[in-house]
Amino acid sequence: MVGKPFARKEVALQAIAYGNVSVAIEEQKMMDLTTNYMGLSLNNPLIAAASPLTSTLKSVQRLEKAGIAAVVLPSLFEEQIRQEQEEQIVLPKNNLFPEVTSFLPAGLTLERGSRAYLDTIGQVKAAVDIPVIASLNGCSEGGWMDFARQIEQAGADGIELHIYYNPPSLEITGREVEDVYLDAASRIKSSIAIPVALKIDPFFSAFGNMARQFDEMGVDALVMFNRMLQPDFNLNNMQVETAWPISKPGEIGIPLRWISVLYGKINASLAATSGAYDHEDIVKYLLGGADTVMLASALIRNGADYVSVLLKGLEVWLKQRDFTGLKDMRGLMSQRSLANPEAFERASYIRTVDGAKKH
Ligand SMILES: Cc1cc2nc3c(=O)[nH]c(=O)nc-3n(C[C@H](O)[C@H](O)[C@H](O)COP(=O)(O)O)c2cc1C
Repeated sequence: MVGKPFARKEVALQAIAYGNVSVAIEEQKMMDLTTNYMGLSLNNPLIAAASPLTSTLKSVQRLEKAGIAAVVLPSLFEEQIRQEQEEQIVLPKNNLFPEVTSFLPAGLTLERGSRAYLDTIGQVKAAVDIPVIASLNGCSEGGWMDFARQIEQAGADGIELHIYYNPPSLEITGREVEDVYLDAASRIKSSIAIPVALKIDPFFSAFGNMARQFDEMGVDALVMFNRMLQPDFNLNNMQVETAWPISKPGEIGIPLRWISVLYGKINASLAATSGAYDHEDIVKYLLGGADTVMLASALIRNGADYVSVLLKGLEVWLKQRDFTGLKDMRGLMSQRSLANPEAFERASYIRTVDGAKKH
C-alpha cells in the first residue's frame, strides 16, 4: 500500500524520458478525490454537517457551487414529530375551531415541523445534484420513528440518525443506555432501505465494542462524534442556557483516535465530525481512515465559499507528496497500518509524561 502512491509518478517520469511531456503533465495533474460514503459516490470527502448552513436552499446551492460533495440537513427532533402526532388527535380535521391552536406551545404552528421538513427535502433534491442526507434526532421508542419512511419517500439519499441519550440520572445503568442506542439504530435500520448513518457521542465505557455492534446490525456509517448540546450558566440573569457550541480548531483528537482504531475493522463508513478547520485537519482525518469529513463550525465562521479553499489545500497537499488520490493515503496512519499501534494505547501516556519531564 505504501509503495502505491508513487506508481503514477514513475509513469510520469518515464513519459518525460520518452519525450511525451503531455502524458507526463496529465499523469501529474490527475487527482482523484472521490470517495464512497455509505454506498453514495461522492466527488470528494467534504460534507456539510447538519447546521443552520444547510437549512436553506440558497446556502445549500452555494455550498454545492463551492465544491461540497454532500449535505446533511439540520435535524428534525423526535419531540417535534411527537407533538405533531399528538396534535393530529386533538385537533378537528378541518380545524373548525381556530382558537384551539392557542393550546400549542408558543412559537409552534401546525405548518412548521415535519411537513415542512419533507417539503425541504424535495426542494433541495430538485435544486442540487449532490446527495442530500436528512437528519433525525431522537432515541425513544415510538411512532416518530415511522417518520424515517416518509423521509425516504421524500427522496433523501440517506438518513443520519442522531442519537443523544445521556440522562442526568443516578439510577440508569450503562447497559440500559447502550440498549437505547442499539434499539433505536436497529429500528430505523430495519424500517427503511436507504443508507443509515449513526451520529453518536464517544461516552460509552467500551466505544469500540459498541461500534462493532452497530456495524453488525448493518448501520451504514458512523459519524464521530456528536458535540452535545451543553448547559452553561448565564451569570447575568442566573439562567441555565443551552446552545449548540461552535467548535474550536484543535478539537479533532477524540474522533481522530477512534476513526484510526476502527479503520479496516468494521464495514460501516467512517465520517469525522468535530473541529476540522483547515486542510491539515482534513488530511489527518483521512490518514486515520475517515471516508468523509463533515464541516459545520468552519463553514459557519468562514462562509460556504471556504469549501473551495479547503479542497484546494487538500489537493496541493496530496500533489506535493505524490499521492494521486485519497485511495493512496486513506488509513495510512490508522492503528492497523502503523508500525507502532501502541500509539493509541495507554502506553503512550508514559512516553508523553517522560517527554514532558525532559522539557
Ligand atoms: C449552530 C449549530 C447547529 C447544529 N445543528 C445540528 C443539528 O441540527 N443536528 C445535528 O446532528 N448536529 C448539529 N450540529 C452539530 C454539527 O453538525 C457538528 O457535528 C458539530 O458542530 C461538530 O462539527 P464542527 O466542529 O465542524 O462544528 C450543529 C452545530 C452547530 C454549531
